[in-house]
Amino acid sequence: ALYGRVERPECIACGLCQMLAPDLFDYDQAGIAYYKPDRNTGTKALDDQATIHFRLAYKRCPTHSIKRSDHPFDAEPYTPT
Ligand code: F3S
Repeated sequence: ALYGRVERPECIACGLCQMLAPDLFDYDQAGIAYYKPDRNTGTKALDDQATIHFRLAYKRCPTHSIKRSDHPFDAEPYTPT
């Protein structure tokens, strides 16, 4: 399974991920992105359709702030405010 989230301190609010995968990414009030399906905890596995969109955003993020893992994330999730 594939899990994703945004390493929010590295995000520069460029907006690309939300344009490429609006079902997966959104912004907080400061414009910093978070992973929508699990509020950026990185604990909910992507299904096949979502994985296609996730990969697009993952590859294009200019600061490589979008992280992926084969296992659920368990560190500080930087949830949006
Ligand atoms: Fe931030 Fe990268 Fe998205 S900089 S807004 S996580 S494309």
